[in-house]
Amino acid sequence: MGKPGRNEWDPLEEVIVGRVEGATVPCWHAILQATMPTEHHAFFYTHGGRAFPQDLLMAANAELNQFVQLLEAEGVKVRRPDPVDCSRQFATPDWSSPAGLYTAMPRDCLLVIGDEIIEAPMAWRCRYFETFAYRSLLKNYFQQGARWSAAPRPQLPDALYQPVEEQEGEEAFPFRSMLSEYEPTFDAADYIRCGKDIFVQRSQVTNSFGIAWLRRHLGERYRIHELQFNDPHPMHLDATFVPLAPGKLLVNPERIRGIKLPEMLASWEVRYAAQPVPRAAPPLYMSSHWLSMNILMLDEERVVVEAQEEPLIAQLTSWGFKPLRCPFRHFQALGGSFHCATLDVRRRGGLQSYF
Ligand code: ALA
Repeated sequence: MGKPGRNEWDPLEEVIVGRVEGATVPCWHAILQATMPTEHHAFFYTHGGRAFPQDLLMAANAELNQFVQLLEAEGVKVRRPDPVDCSRQFATPDWSSPAGLYTAMPRDCLLVIGDEIIEAPMAWRCRYFETFAYRSLLKNYFQQGARWSAAPRPQLPDALYQPVEEQEGEEAFPFRSMLSEYEPTFDAADYIRCGKDIFVQRSQVTNSFGIAWLRRHLGERYRIHELQFNDPHPMHLDATFVPLAPGKLLVNPERIRGIKLPEMLASWEVRYAAQPVPRAAPPLYMSSHWLSMNILMLDEERVVVEAQEEPLIAQLTSWGFKPLRCPFRHFQALGGSFHCATLDVRRRGGLQSYF
């Protein structure tokens, strides 16, 4: 595997970029209620198990191809998962799922820490086999010397999901999780790597048991710090807490309200992300508009930003970064942007402490 990935900003050498072919609308399940935008719940009821609209997927695919070309032009090696038809039904002895989801977001299901790639124990049933699309790549990375692990495969019984009624009247902070502590679960995108220090949030897909599992698995070489934000629907840290380079942190201005960041960040310059540019279409079926912050650092200066996010582009430019624009609004309809759509497998640089 060569030089592994240990933070979000060392010079990027190799990256996995997801695919949108075969992307399927998730079938409704109680856990979706915790994070999916209320105005799109009806879309999941009626379209669950069917392909996302073809014109949307075609436009998203064109954007993805442009993103791949941009990365390659910047000298980054790009690899892709195997194509998968996610509309197929599957089952365990305890439950069945009428369909899968997609292979669009490698950030969610795989965690690269140093020379290790870890398959995440994801809490959504429709994502149970998601890492299989990456197995060709994982076997290849293993042959090149990577350590390849998987967290204990969760059983995802009904007991993992707490009744929706308990959520009513909740305060945004601290949020009330719809996940119990039945077994360890996490999505890899709830972790952000800063060398020896790794930040994580407990979310509607990551429970304390999952965080404890990873902490013990990684041992003393890494320190895992749990953060809490003012977010009633937490799912993935990368539109909330975005370290850009040593000493530079972009935070979500809404989700930081009333929150004190840990003392270890006191010497870092923290800026509130510029407001996202309003959009009428395509719909953000699976996320908030803060996907604007879901950017990808190619090194400590170059950063891939959605082409229309002018306020953020101006903010990053005046902060000393070099934004590279890429249209991505159709892709974003699937719930992620450049950080979600990628897995940085190799960045040049060693394991360091930045705090
Ligand atoms: N789930 C995150 C958000 O919607 C990415 O902002």
